[in-house]
Amino acid sequence: MSQKVSLGSRSINAGAPKPAEGSAFRHGPEFASTFHLSGDVNPDSYQYGRFGQPTWAALEEGLTDLEGGDTVIFPSGMSAAAAVLTSLTSPGDTILLPSDGYAPVRYYTEQYLVKFGVNLKTIATKDVESFDFKGIDLALLETPSNPMLDTFDIQKAADKIHSQGGLLAIDNTTLTFLGQQPLSLGADISISADTKAVNGHSDVLFGHVSSKDQAVSDKIRDWRKFSGNIPGPMETWLVHRSLSTLDIRLERMCNNAVLLAHELEKHPKVKSVRYPGLESDPSHQIAKQQQQHFGFIISFELENKASADKFLEACELVYVATSFGGVHSMAERRARWGTDDIPEGVVRFSVGCERADDLIADVITALDNL
Ligand SMILES: Cc1ncc(COP(=O)(O)O)c(C=O)c1O
Repeated sequence: MSQKVSLGSRSINAGAPKPAEGSAFRHGPEFASTFHLSGDVNPDSYQYGRFGQPTWAALEEGLTDLEGGDTVIFPSGMSAAAAVLTSLTSPGDTILLPSDGYAPVRYYTEQYLVKFGVNLKTIATKDVESFDFKGIDLALLETPSNPMLDTFDIQKAADKIHSQGGLLAIDNTTLTFLGQQPLSLGADISISADTKAVNGHSDVLFGHVSSKDQAVSDKIRDWRKFSGNIPGPMETWLVHRSLSTLDIRLERMCNNAVLLAHELEKHPKVKSVRYPGLESDPSHQIAKQQQQHFGFIISFELENKASADKFLEACELVYVATSFGGVHSMAERRARWGTDDIPEGVVRFSVGCERADDLIADVITALDNL
């Protein structure tokens, strides 16, 4: 597809079969554990289901176009992150992770890599700007961070780590490739938990890793093949189907989020709001500079645990659940997990595709009644 056509328009047909008279617009999922294969092994043929198969190839082709780098799909966001952390490091290497990012990425590194001689350093996302990256072989960072939405300049971080010979991976889950392009901004690797907005219907776990560096993506693909962390064809097809509506879903979700964040900022029961789309937010300038939208996640603080729980119970349109990026709004009192260093009253709110006036009325009524 011509690079002049916007990513949003390209996402509608990304990875779809070329039009041919009488053929279907889309392929269905192809279920196969193995493929007919006689004689010497043909490297251009499908061979065995764990090595590669047509439903994966179609989605990977689409995501490769949208990410701007060779893409390898995974059965979850965590398996995508584990692939990067495990296949690109050796004993003695040092990994840098956010202290305020998605906690299981740290837990995986601590439990399965540190015991084999990999060193782990952590940094708060807001301190990445002033960090020199000395001695870091691989940094896997988030911007905006989840759940508190701090940001940093990806290009600056990439320049610094490259001058030290390291690699920069960005977990781009909170924005997706339609909201931020880590590879164009100088990162070596873009990671996504497609469980969230890319699939967007809260019915599939999925992930992917993209890189412009063929040596990197070859290692990632080998890790998938030899560890057996492979997605099923049905899930792959569902994610591919969802890709066609990602742009329009994000447009509604992010527009709703801007409107809701402004209402929350004015409400007397709300102690503070974090949303990169608010002019007052510490992440606003960087978000404006490197993002195509401000995202659909808002984190705001209510008085205490009881008021946050009461608020969540009172909302009619908002599901209480621990995820984000769905067509439906969902929220949770994030401190209930004990994994993030945040106040008890913080609500992480993932704004959905409901009509803005309905959603705002629902949220404001619940706040008014606290
Ligand atoms: C930023 C981020 N990265 C990675 C993951 C892991 O994704 P999954 O749950 O699909 O393994 C999550 C899940 O919440 C996440 O929020």
